[in-house]
Amino acid sequence: MTTTQADTWGLHESQFWLRGKQPEARVHHAPELGFWNVYGHPEAEEVLRDPATYSSDTTRLVPKEMMQDADLKEMSAGNLLQLDPPLHNKMRKLVSRAFTPKVVADLEPRIAAVTNEMLDAAGGDGRLELVEDLAYPLPVIVIAELLGVPASDRYLFKGWVDKLFDSSEQFSLKEQTKSQEESVAKSLEGQKALAEYLGAHVDERRKQPREDLLTKLVEAEVDGERLTRNEVVNFANILLLAGHITTTMLLGNAVLCLDTHPEWDRRVRADRSLLPATIEESLRYLSPFAAVARTATREVELGGVTVPPDQMLLVWVAAANRDDRVFTDPDTFNPLRDPNPHLAFGRGIHFCIGAPLARLEGRVALSILFDRYPALRTIPGEPPKFQINPNMTGVRELPLTIG
Ligand code: HEM
Repeated sequence: MTTTQADTWGLHESQFWLRGKQPEARVHHAPELGFWNVYGHPEAEEVLRDPATYSSDTTRLVPKEMMQDADLKEMSAGNLLQLDPPLHNKMRKLVSRAFTPKVVADLEPRIAAVTNEMLDAAGGDGRLELVEDLAYPLPVIVIAELLGVPASDRYLFKGWVDKLFDSSEQFSLKEQTKSQEESVAKSLEGQKALAEYLGAHVDERRKQPREDLLTKLVEAEVDGERLTRNEVVNFANILLLAGHITTTMLLGNAVLCLDTHPEWDRRVRADRSLLPATIEESLRYLSPFAAVARTATREVELGGVTVPPDQMLLVWVAAANRDDRVFTDPDTFNPLRDPNPHLAFGRGIHFCIGAPLARLEGRVALSILFDRYPALRTIPGEPPKFQINPNMTGVRELPLTIG
């Protein structure tokens, strides 16, 4: 068996698509885990484009005892990611007003200022730890400022978010092992702490409105009705979560792609117009959010197999992004691929609402890194470390020399 870059980096063994392999089946039942894996690109698109057949409300399939007394209804109210039409359309319209192209474009100078501030404070010894010095703080500061919570609380968020994602356990709907139980308990603890924190801010905005997104959510009306406290909290929670850890991975992964492909590093540095396509290709090549979940609402044929009703499907967008029926030489990093229909931001009605912001942060931060440092190189003997969660692909430590 040949050792791949993914083995050298210690990426989760279940992530076969990072090891030059195509799946044995594009749609595959995992009876031991209680759900279906969707690995193919056309099959993944078929699922994501049909919310009536493939619902995003996966909460009803999670066994009650698994959630250790947590109130799932309470936790999922207002969570865009788990809503189906028609409620999804209403809520999405509401947040889209806060994420207009203008709001995002206007953030560019602030993103540049924060990037420079972070880099001024780092790199004194000829080295950067890219994640700690830039890729983690930048997106958190941007989303915290947009919501209106103090960016200086980011160390608190980090502690809670780490509890949510710090597990190498494969998700399973079947009987839980002790360590799976512990990981669910840890994750619930993180979610509860984050919800309490945001709840306190929401209460404050009700009393004293400000010019921020939290106030807009508190005051927003959907069809003449206001959002409940719980809905506002969960909505803000999703923005804070989805709004930072994925973009952290995008920045780190893009730098890593250029480190492992020095010819592209040279080309992009020399011709910055290649930067947006380089970011898209690194999203395809190392997709941060590897899988999204759906529930089959009826019996359905998918990729030549029959999926019974009330089954959970994990749609592996990261594997679909290496499907050799759609991408020529899928394991080659090639920013010039055109088209590049990667699914890293999803598809259909749940398509990532933060994609323009993530792309902007990537473009601004990478451009400033190129301007400030003639070379960014990984350090022999200090390899990058990755998220251990099998549903993610992203660096969590990336030591670099900047000479
Ligand atoms: C949805 C990935 C950045 C907020 C999604 C989905 C994916 C995704 C795959 C679809 C989920 C599904 O279909 O179930 C990413 C990646 C990012 C990123 C890879 C960075 C590289 C952001 C940012 C924000 C954000 C910066 C917010 C500021 C959201 C929200 C949704 C979403 C609210 C739910 C949309 C809906 O259900 O209608 N994201 N995301 N994301 N993302 Fe992102």
